[in-house]
Amino acid sequence: MAIIGLDTEIVEVEADTTGGTHFIIVGLPDAAVQESKERVRSAIKNSGFYFPRGRTVVNLAPADLKKQGPSFDLPIAVSVLKKTKQIPDTFRDSPKEIFAGELALDGKIRPVNGILPMAIAAKKQNVESFYVPAENASEAGLVPGTNIFPVHTLKELIEHLDGERIIEPIKTPRISLKNMADLEKYDFAFIRGQEHAKRALEIAAAGGHNILMSGPPGSGKTLLSRALPGILPDLTVDEALEVTKIYSVAGELPTDLPIISSRPFRSPHHTASGVSLVGGGAWPRPGEVSLAHRGVLFLDELPEFDRQVLENLRQPLEDGLVTISRVAGTIQFPAKFMLVAARNPCPCGYTNDPYGNCTCSPIQVSNYNKKISGPLLDRIDLHVDVPKIKFEKLESNEMAESSTAIQARVQAARHRQEKRFQDTGIFTNAEMSSEQTRHFCPQNDEIKKLLRQAVEQMNLSARAYFRILKIGRTIADLEASDEIQTKHIAEALQYRPRVE
Ligand SMILES: Nc1ncnc2c1ncn2[C@@H]1O[C@H](COP(=O)(O)OP(=O)(O)OP(=O)(O)O)[C@@H](O)[C@H]1O
Ligand SMILES: [Mg+2]
Repeated sequence: MAIIGLDTEIVEVEADTTGGTHFIIVGLPDAAVQESKERVRSAIKNSGFYFPRGRTVVNLAPADLKKQGPSFDLPIAVSVLKKTKQIPDTFRDSPKEIFAGELALDGKIRPVNGILPMAIAAKKQNVESFYVPAENASEAGLVPGTNIFPVHTLKELIEHLDGERIIEPIKTPRISLKNMADLEKYDFAFIRGQEHAKRALEIAAAGGHNILMSGPPGSGKTLLSRALPGILPDLTVDEALEVTKIYSVAGELPTDLPIISSRPFRSPHHTASGVSLVGGGAWPRPGEVSLAHRGVLFLDELPEFDRQVLENLRQPLEDGLVTISRVAGTIQFPAKFMLVAARNPCPCGYTNDPYGNCTCSPIQVSNYNKKISGPLLDRIDLHVDVPKIKFEKLESNEMAESSTAIQARVQAARHRQEKRFQDTGIFTNAEMSSEQTRHFCPQNDEIKKLLRQAVEQMNLSARAYFRILKIGRTIADLEASDEIQTKHIAEALQYRPRVE
């Protein structure tokens, strides 16, 4: 199977032997597929079979589809063995049977990327049997409906196809999703004060909203963000499959974990390039924004990121996906993530310090703030100050509310949203379109009046207007309130910065 973005297409592999001495692969193979020749030749010989002497041609069809990576080793070896009658003809070569795997020189089969999307495509096309590297079997098994055969070596596979020693298909594993957050290290209970920031993070987690924290050095911004995974709602099975598909194609799936079971938390360094952030490359790969799909993209020290790199976030933040254009066509990767960012208010970090310790000139402050563009800031729903905390709070032994307690509220609010958005294709308030916002966030006269005032006085954009309504919806959900009340909108407005 060839992988294009997150989709896959079945490739037919055919082999022929004629006069001459070469082994040739045709059908737009990339370098890894070309090198397959050497691996296949050695693997076949070292598994106790013979490689044909004359000229061998392998064709990968459709010929105009680019083939990439080492997963074609196994089907190429099978087709050569079949052509030379080392596999009996009883074995059908219709698209009912599919092979994927990289060969080691001694005939062992190594794991490959993208097995989950392949298994999904195989099921869609009614493939009966899918032969996969044993290490990828539990990943393929996430999709029931196809017989998944875990294969360790080429020899084992041939004996199975011969009927000599049958490999048992694997049983579909039960999917168990558990939040893997490290509560021993990062729990909201250990973070003193900062109730305002904690509340904003709770709202962000409940509705999937973007949040920016500003404050002086050492006030706890990074600490608060690190504790965020502990209050995120659990992934649903559908979401987990979506996320796992992306990790499978990116080759980022941990070997001991067939499924991504808790929301991703990605924190790229501020030296990250545009391609690593949004994806791309000659063979387009998902970037950080897609690896953060259904989870969190945490950008610490936001102004230190290259401005041009940050601008790339504008499209995914608005559309929830990344479009990469290539000569052969466009590829899209999903990218519905929650942006969490932290920054100091100025280069020295003490602009709003009550003791007036700031040493920056107004020009320095303004240049610093210009590093983040207005359009990007406009896409951030919650702006919170994380001030220096008072000594009494630091010293006190009182524990704050635990992450587990906050997570329970977040989870309940998320369930309300799932119910509300049944059959709409979205899961969270943050994903609502303008039309959906109008429909799901009815406003009474008092709210209308409040919003009119706010739009005029705070100079809000149309986008900001809809984003405030969505935050209001989430605050109401946290209170298990069906209707949005004036106080919910009033709180939502607090998190909006004033645009000068
Ligand atoms: N509210 C708090 N409660 C408990 N510990 C805190 C708190 N704030 C800060 N700390 C301690 O101070 C350390 C530094 O905090 P943190 O790295 O989160 O600061 P920051 O706001 O990200 O600073 P900077 O702007 O320099 O990046 C933390 O590792 C933690 O031990
Ligand atoms: Mg920090």
